[in-house]
Amino acid sequence: MRLNRLAVTDYRNLSAAVLEPAPQLTVLCGANGQGKTNLLEAVWLLTGGKSFRGAKDAELIRRGADFAVLEAAFEAGDRPQEIRLTVGAKGTQRPGRTVRLNGADRGRAASIAGTFTAVAFDPNHLSLVKGGPEGRRHFLDAALCQLYPGYLAAERRYLRVVAQKNALLKAYDITPGGDVLLETYNEALVTYGCEVMRRRAGYLDQLAPAAAANYRDISSGAEKLEIQYCPCCDPGSPEALAAKLREVKNTELRAGFCLTGPHREDLEILIDGQSGKIYGSQGQQRSAVLSMKLAEASVAGEVLGEHPVMLLDDVLSELDDARQTYLLTRIEDKQTFVTTCDSAAFARTNGKLVFVDHGTVREG
Ligand SMILES: Nc1ncnc2c1ncn2[C@@H]1O[C@H](COP(=O)(O)OP(=O)(O)OP(=O)(O)O)[C@@H](O)[C@H]1O
Ligand SMILES: [Mg+2]
Repeated sequence: MRLNRLAVTDYRNLSAAVLEPAPQLTVLCGANGQGKTNLLEAVWLLTGGKSFRGAKDAELIRRGADFAVLEAAFEAGDRPQEIRLTVGAKGTQRPGRTVRLNGADRGRAASIAGTFTAVAFDPNHLSLVKGGPEGRRHFLDAALCQLYPGYLAAERRYLRVVAQKNALLKAYDITPGGDVLLETYNEALVTYGCEVMRRRAGYLDQLAPAAAANYRDISSGAEKLEIQYCPCCDPGSPEALAAKLREVKNTELRAGFCLTGPHREDLEILIDGQSGKIYGSQGQQRSAVLSMKLAEASVAGEVLGEHPVMLLDDVLSELDDARQTYLLTRIEDKQTFVTTCDSAAFARTNGKLVFVDHGTVREG
């Protein structure tokens, strides 16, 4: 995937700006509050996804304007394509986010999901290492939804049965035929849960070695990253999950909710054999998340046949010189955008420099 040109009009603080990125690395430089993240967010919106900051549509339109317009020329495979995305304010003719792909009206922006693909890193993603298991499951599930269309359905069905079973466990004593109903729910949990676990395990088989290789490169070979899936039982084995559910039945009845299954799983992220969450330094945690994000992009590239564009926001802070230099010089062949406040970045990168200043974009 390669973005060749992006023109934005009345988008956040960018009233009229044109970005012509390099095929490989583009470094967006500028002081705080100038529009660097805004520009990355604009590229991200071309994916049809939500804003990576979770912003509402109205926040994307430059204050005082009615519409924000993003016009992009990009290549998927070797095929040149164009996206024109409009964000309309409430009460205008076309409110919300709508899109034209290669000149044809495609309605809502989400309808073109999968056409232009990107993987974004922003500082909130540090919760992947620092935060609870929920964020790590979300990381896996979000990636799998992009790669396998059937995954979302299996995961939703699984979670729906978990909710139904939770309701039953709470009212078990007063539910006639509760025993039979519990059996039915457990059978459904085995069917859908196994599918979720099999996909997660398969994904981690690809992701973990790629993330480890990235981490080794970022740390110049000094440290080792390991990502381990902690499944509740042998992943993908219906017998194992069924046995596990039988084993916890009485404890679940006492607790009043589901105690085991893919909705309770986690990933272990180890740096040099120690828990990254507990012992990792800020820079190590950042390097670990970054390695996982870059690996997410390369696995998507392998599965979908098209490597997503990488958007790395504020990734350099807290990294030492060697790690920064790696990111500013060693990212090759895959199109990548990195933001920095460091005005001396030009001396340290072989990428294309673009200066962002009060919402204007100027090539270095
Ligand atoms: N809808 C909008 N209309 C006008 N300006 C906006 C809008 N939304 C955000 N801004 C402005 O954009 C600026 C922030 O831009 P951005 O987050 O891209 O900065 P940045 O260059 O990434 O800075 P930092 O280095 O601090 O991360 C703020 O000054 C903010 O007020
Ligand atoms: Mg920023």
